[in-house]
Amino acid sequence: MTSPVTPSPVTSRRSGDIAVVIIDNPPVNALGHKVRAGLATELAALEADATVAAVVLACAGRTFVAGADITEFGKPLEPPGLHEVIAQIGRMTKPVVAAIHGTALGGGLELALGCHYRVAVATAQFGLPEVKLGILPGAGGTQRLPRVLGVIPALEIMTTGDFIGADKALAGGLIQRILPDLDQAAVDFAREIAAARPLPLIEASDGKLAEARANPGLIDEFARSIARRSRGFRAPGAIIDCVKAALAKPFADGLAYERERFMELVQSPESAAQRYAFFAEREAGKVPGLPSDTPVRPIRRAAVIGAGTMGGGIAMNFANAGIPVTLIETGAEALERGLKTIRANYEATAKRGGITPADAEARFARITGSLKLEDAAEADIVTEAVFEEMGLKKDLFGKLDRIVRADAILATNTSTLDVNEIAAATSRPERVLGTHYFSPANVMKLLEIVRGTATAPDVLATAMAMARKLKKVPVVVGVCYGFVGNRMLHRRASQVESLLLEGASPAELDQALLDFGFPMGPCAMADLAGIDVGWRIRQGLGIRDEVSDRLYEAGRLGQKTGAGFFRYEPGNRAPIPDPAVDAIIAAAAAAKGIDRRSIPQDEILARLLYPMVNEAAHILEEGIASRASDIDIVWFYGYGWPVYRGGPMYWADHIGLETIRAGLQKMTDRLSDARLKPAPLLARLAAEGRGFLGPKA
Ligand code: 3HC
Repeated sequence: MTSPVTPSPVTSRRSGDIAVVIIDNPPVNALGHKVRAGLATELAALEADATVAAVVLACAGRTFVAGADITEFGKPLEPPGLHEVIAQIGRMTKPVVAAIHGTALGGGLELALGCHYRVAVATAQFGLPEVKLGILPGAGGTQRLPRVLGVIPALEIMTTGDFIGADKALAGGLIQRILPDLDQAAVDFAREIAAARPLPLIEASDGKLAEARANPGLIDEFARSIARRSRGFRAPGAIIDCVKAALAKPFADGLAYERERFMELVQSPESAAQRYAFFAEREAGKVPGLPSDTPVRPIRRAAVIGAGTMGGGIAMNFANAGIPVTLIETGAEALERGLKTIRANYEATAKRGGITPADAEARFARITGSLKLEDAAEADIVTEAVFEEMGLKKDLFGKLDRIVRADAILATNTSTLDVNEIAAATSRPERVLGTHYFSPANVMKLLEIVRGTATAPDVLATAMAMARKLKKVPVVVGVCYGFVGNRMLHRRASQVESLLLEGASPAELDQALLDFGFPMGPCAMADLAGIDVGWRIRQGLGIRDEVSDRLYEAGRLGQKTGAGFFRYEPGNRAPIPDPAVDAIIAAAAAAKGIDRRSIPQDEILARLLYPMVNEAAHILEEGIASRASDIDIVWFYGYGWPVYRGGPMYWADHIGLETIRAGLQKMTDRLSDARLKPAPLLARLAAEGRGFLGPKA
């Protein structure tokens, strides 16, 4: 039996003496084995064809090559490798022009850098985002990009993974020309340069390396400047090493060194976790039971009710995305204050160079303040961000229901309340959902989209599309107290309390999570948020936290009063351990008759994280989250869980669910806390030797 011959994703056509090679490998023209093989074959044929004067290398579909095929990582490489294809271009005797639209990323940009010329349309973007996958540009990127842009700009691009636009690429010499289109104009360009010799190759020019060669301290200074944001990640340091090699070694040796470091990173557990996160994020965008062709309504105008910290941040998201937004408050003073904070925020961003002053002005101008609820009438979506109180919210939704258009969406930014109950206060529960933003709402990328029992498919689909427009990462969750993120966080918080009483200090607790990779520990975080915030929530629930409530009663409200779990020097956010807190904790423990002991770091970590995993198992079993990987996304983008460890579910699978189950059982027995009892799903998966993410993570 013969297998059907699948057509090659690489073909070529002719336009006189110019050959146009087209890569057509949807969705993003990734450089899988067939593309590499097709390129090698096609380029060899064109090199041998005397009637071809020059070659244009372009892509079909929505983008130029967006990189190596990530799904091939971890499998044996099928030749030819990308570096071989690029070397083949370097040996050609006729010019090859990369014609770029969409995004030239990773191996895609490296392929283009191996060509003699690069042209692009004005909307094209360029980047080496490998660092986000825990790897480095492994097909010459670390050696060629510094030769094109200079060492520091190249390091900036490679260690952040950020993209640059065509204008910047042209100014830096990354591309030779911006073209109106890639059909005729790219062919014309190829014809224009067809006879020019010698053929320019990036590896042949070292000029832009001169400054860093003369001043080796430059790279070390750069390394220091990114130390904080790259803590725990392996790739940024390896990228810096490769650039040092570019300065110190001949090109071929630099390439070999880059290859070696690439292989080391691609096999690392950090990269495996980051690649998992990449696909988990895309998976989260696909909502079970919501067909991908569900109609999405355009959001042309928004309204936000409540100009406090949350409401203001939410309004900024709309304004940043170019959507006019009406910000509604009840009192003139509160509105004024809210608008003033937003303006100051924009001005600060402009000052830091994040946006231009004109852009800051234009964004602010999209926000209109109002004192009348009736001004929400024209909005396609109204987001409520008022005080977290059911009666208040129901009243507001009842009023909004009578004001806004029949097809408008009503969204509540509650972090805990029952969205179904809020929806029932309207005549249109199918057009109501929760959009839970994380503070600061204009910065944090996570958006929990709370699907009510009645929420209509088009409302959900519209909210997902809106989230992407606002540059958020949306995760759909079901209705329950605290949804996914805060519900798990509460489990951690109650362990913070009991660990303190049992003998750990706030500094030890925080250190355990800092060492794990969180940007901040729970005690410093509580000080930042305000000890009064948790106190108010507990008052509402009628519960008491022995330590935190004593801090509150002592007037230690956190950073804002210069003292909370830690003390703070004026104008400095660095937490300093405070003996006064040790005394408060000791008194609280004595009052409860607890004998304090020293608690090892690994026990602290297990106590803080296992109960969260257990809660996640309940969340999964109840269907509050549709899949385990969605929970991981919530923790990456909402709470700073270190992506190089995978999220809580991925991490738990790697620890082994039986270890977690046994640990929880021990805690349950020792602490007589029924909430720590292993969840049925966890116990079942552990018994079957499986993980949350499948048989083997
Ligand atoms: N390999 C395999 N699949 C990829 C891929 C890649 N490099 N890039 C994207 N995909 C897949 C996605 O998983 C998704 O699949 P799905 O539809 O089945 O979920 C599909 O392509 C579309 O992706 P998005 O949903 O992300 O589409 P967007 O239009 O929102 O974004 C993009 C497009 C900007 C290209 C984005 O997909 C992206 O950033 N891709 C990754 C780019 C990257 O990291 N490149 C470097 C790869 S490593 C490398 O090149 C190593 C080299 O140095 C040797």
